[in-house]
Amino acid sequence: MTSTGGSPGAWPPGPPAGLTGLRLLATMSRDLPRALATWQKQYGDIVHLRLWREHDVVVADPQLARELLVSHHDALVRWERGIRVFSQVHGHSVLTSEGEAWRSRRHALVPSFSPKAVQGFSPTIVEAATQAFSTWPGEDANWPIETALTMLTMEVILQMVFSSSIGEDVRVAEQAIRVTSAAANAEFYWPASMPDWMPWKRRKRQALKSLKALIERHLQSRLNLPRDAWPDDLLTRLLQSGDDGAALSLQNVRDECMTIFLAGHETTAATLVWWVWCMAANPASQCAARDEVQRVLQGRAPTAETLPALGYLTQTIKETLRLYPVAPLLISRRATRAVQLGNWTFPARTLFMIPVHLMHHDPRWFPDPQAFQPARFASDAPEVPRGAYIPFGVGPRVCLGQHLAMSEMTVIAAMLLQRFALSVPQGAAPPRPVINLTLRPEQPMHLAIASVGA
Ligand code: HEM
Repeated sequence: MTSTGGSPGAWPPGPPAGLTGLRLLATMSRDLPRALATWQKQYGDIVHLRLWREHDVVVADPQLARELLVSHHDALVRWERGIRVFSQVHGHSVLTSEGEAWRSRRHALVPSFSPKAVQGFSPTIVEAATQAFSTWPGEDANWPIETALTMLTMEVILQMVFSSSIGEDVRVAEQAIRVTSAAANAEFYWPASMPDWMPWKRRKRQALKSLKALIERHLQSRLNLPRDAWPDDLLTRLLQSGDDGAALSLQNVRDECMTIFLAGHETTAATLVWWVWCMAANPASQCAARDEVQRVLQGRAPTAETLPALGYLTQTIKETLRLYPVAPLLISRRATRAVQLGNWTFPARTLFMIPVHLMHHDPRWFPDPQAFQPARFASDAPEVPRGAYIPFGVGPRVCLGQHLAMSEMTVIAAMLLQRFALSVPQGAAPPRPVINLTLRPEQPMHLAIASVGA
């Protein structure tokens, strides 16, 4: 379905905003996916929201969403309020920069995240996962699997970036990330943040300090090593990456490390958490995935060469990312000049939001959308319109780490199935997804686990 069009200066239909739009904002901050679904039903695939002085346009038409992010990329910047909130933690990294600064950062980083470069990380991931799984109990009726998977993905990213284990820092880092994410999430919905020196922001200040200290410690210990002793990891590549002949400054490297550390483990952890839930709640899919893993790997660890043979397992991860796209907030853009989309002309300053979650649950593209059906992603499955499935975004700002994320999650998923059977604890209700920067269960997930064969 495309927009029906409008005369110049007209806006698509949308819910009445009242005097300020604050009521709409409150509805959105309570339950964004539900609010967007209700408005789509009432007003169609392009919805106009008047939020205070902002004109926000929600584009749930896959073809137009894709056209916006790909063809109109040059007329858009990330939503500056979101970026201001992110920058408090990420500084000026590829995630938070725009224009020429973004282009040269992205250019410097892309080679380290290509499908080929990512293959080189498989042994690191296998090693971290082997170590982590060896500490899981053989049987537990209520295992805190979300914490365990978050620690594992944190360990993996630290190994990939710094060739170093997080060791005792893990709890401090986990706590610091929880505090900064909650603070950032709360700030997203307000037009301006109170300064961080306000007394009630002490926890956030401390959390930021400990995250920055963690990055700094690793950076300094690398700089203290002679160059020929630097290991081949992402930090070394960043320190050596030429940016039109000029290396990234040390501050650039710090900021990129923070973004890679945070973007690189939060999202994969959140997706794995939803994946284990999907496996536990769908025992037939879990068995089929385990059968495939056992047939292909014969008890061995996965490698870059064997991953492509794990087709069904990959489908289960893709289907998880359809049901639970964990980074929905990032795909919002501000127009820097007028944008023609469908029959509408949107003026400069229009704020666009691409509702990934909504498109992934649209029955027109995904029949029986709430059902977990990995076969939707089989090679012979009916095609969905381009733009209807975009867990990593699309266009020039597509997720930098998408290949890394997919291979990391597949390796960890295969190794988990080799070792453990997953089931829903007795009497446990399905988790409620909430957006806390990433889409996570409202309560930290616990599952029943048992060693395979136990
Ligand atoms: C399941 C895992 C992941 C998901 C679902 C995910 C999703 C996304 C999404 C939706 C975006 C925004 C795209 C846009 O604005 O159009 C993004 C951007 C980004 N992601 Fe990921 N991501 C994941 C894992 C990773 C990993 C492992 C890394 C790095 C190690 C990473 C690094 C980044 C960076 C640096 C950007 C900003 C790129 C830019 O602005 O040029 N992500 N990701």
